[in-house]
Amino acid sequence: MVTESRPELKARTFGENIESDLASRFLRVVEIAAIASARTMGQGERKLSDHVATEAMRKTMDSIPMRGTIVIGEGERDEAPMLYIGEKVGAEFPDGTDVPEIDIAVDPLEGTNLCATGAPGAITVLAASERGGLLNAPDCYMEKIVVGPSCKDAVHLDAPVADNLKNIARRLQRDVEDLVVIVLDRPRHEKLISDIRHAGARIRLIGDGDLSAGIAAAVIGTGVHAVMGSGGAPEGVITAAAIRCLNGYMQGRLVIDKPELEQRIARMGIKDKSKIYEAEDLAPGKQLIFAATGVTDGALMRGVRFFGEGIRTSSVILTLRTGKVRFIDSIHLEKGPDVKVRFA
Ligand code: FBP
Repeated sequence: MVTESRPELKARTFGENIESDLASRFLRVVEIAAIASARTMGQGERKLSDHVATEAMRKTMDSIPMRGTIVIGEGERDEAPMLYIGEKVGAEFPDGTDVPEIDIAVDPLEGTNLCATGAPGAITVLAASERGGLLNAPDCYMEKIVVGPSCKDAVHLDAPVADNLKNIARRLQRDVEDLVVIVLDRPRHEKLISDIRHAGARIRLIGDGDLSAGIAAAVIGTGVHAVMGSGGAPEGVITAAAIRCLNGYMQGRLVIDKPELEQRIARMGIKDKSKIYEAEDLAPGKQLIFAATGVTDGALMRGVRFFGEGIRTSSVILTLRTGKVRFIDSIHLEKGPDVKVRFA
């Protein structure tokens, strides 16, 4: 009997071209989600804003030829109808087709309240990597400190706030009084805020959105020099992907303050609950894509603008291996006989 040997068909891992190809496809995912949620801006319906962004993101992802797995998403399978942890995403393709296998971390609408109230800083965002390139963080808080490339290794989560600020100021060749630190406006940050005030630095308190704040801290010229305090751990992982692409620096430590979280991290194989993670631990991927679109105006991206004949979006796409930082201003024309495009 003659048996025909079939070549083993494997899904491709990321290659340089695939990173570039997927980046433009993921750009579309965050743009479409931003447009959907921006339509609900100011309606006071945070759940609706989040839902439409999630639905748009999920649908657009299914047009991408990939074997995608959601590693950070809207919750566990039984908590979220779509983009739940473990969900498979990507276009349908015949068995054996050569497509990349990737892990994806999403926050379909970061800053649901910001969108619902029309406040600045809401974004749609995702990060992608080869399999295993993004830490599957539990949905708990994470203490974080995020700074730009000049402040690498100049800060430590366990150092006094005043020392961290002195070190940041020295690296940025300015006085502590010239620094702007972003902190989530929460009662849990009372002491942190008081320490920053005593040290003399300026503070921008934000209602939500420490992820976009973290990205701003890693980019010169945004007027943000550091982000401090605790926020979501999943947001911390997505921030880390951006920080790696922007050559910034961050530290994060999970806040494990309930027995159920202890059990959860044990199940996830996290042994040291007080481990200090750096960006390379949170997003260890060799190849990373980070994509975000502004929903409302922010430090790096403008919000979605609707103008009769079309829609204008402002996005950032970062790729680690190809070393590209792209600020993308897109005009989505809704074709009509009178369509006009304005430069700025
Ligand atoms: P949502 O997008 O889910 O509304 O979260 C926004 C956010 O402010 C994050 O930026 C931040 O990491 C986290 O929530 C902080 O959580 P909490 O509101 O519980 O302090």
